[in-house]
Amino acid sequence: MRKHEISPSLLSADFGYVMRDVESIAPYCRFLHLDVMDGHYVPNLTIGVPVIKSIRKHCDLILDTHLMITNPEEFVEPFAAAGSDYITFHVECTDKPFELIEKIRGLGKKAGISIHPDTPAEAIYPFLEKGAVDLILVMSVRPGFGGQSYIPESTARIADYRKRLDDNGSEAILSVDGGINTSTIEEASSAGASLLVAGSAVFGKENPGLAAKELYSMIGETF
Ligand code: DX5
Ligand code: ZN
Repeated sequence: MRKHEISPSLLSADFGYVMRDVESIAPYCRFLHLDVMDGHYVPNLTIGVPVIKSIRKHCDLILDTHLMITNPEEFVEPFAAAGSDYITFHVECTDKPFELIEKIRGLGKKAGISIHPDTPAEAIYPFLEKGAVDLILVMSVRPGFGGQSYIPESTARIADYRKRLDDNGSEAILSVDGGINTSTIEEASSAGASLLVAGSAVFGKENPGLAAKELYSMIGETF
């Protein structure tokens, strides 16, 4: 992994030409962010297991699956079988987050935990301990839709988590999701996020690959 990576969110792609869009970013990116929404935890529906399974067949990118669903424990197995590499669930959506992390790891996958911007930051402090989880996903918009504006308070949250992860010796990836674009990416990465999810700022552009390359250049990564 480079010091910083961009995980383009497929939500903003043209699903009629989905592999064309994925192939556009593949020369520059290592991750692909896949947003799964259930219409319950968030007021929207998106893609599910069959789409991820098909994408897995046609690309080698690290599939970074973001579950915005109310009963994640019921679905991690099919999402693992579909070929996800990281499976991230929301802390708000389960009473047994530690068991769920173990379940995901037991399936041979990396486990991530995400936090809604309206949830107190402390809710995921226990997961900042060394080895507790593989990825922390800070939502910098209210989950549910692409194209929203970055919530400015997210920066302090990222910096707080960065310090705690470092103090604890945790190597978990600190990721940020929502409103990341050419105006906000430097702020989020300077605060300590190393995996920057960007949907509309990549797949919403005419040439997603070049848009990703430009974002990388803004955070000091070259090709
Ligand atoms: C929103 C999703 C995001 C979304 C980001 O709930 O989790 O991954 O695609 O879109 P942008 O980058 O456009 O804010
Ligand atoms: Zn997402």
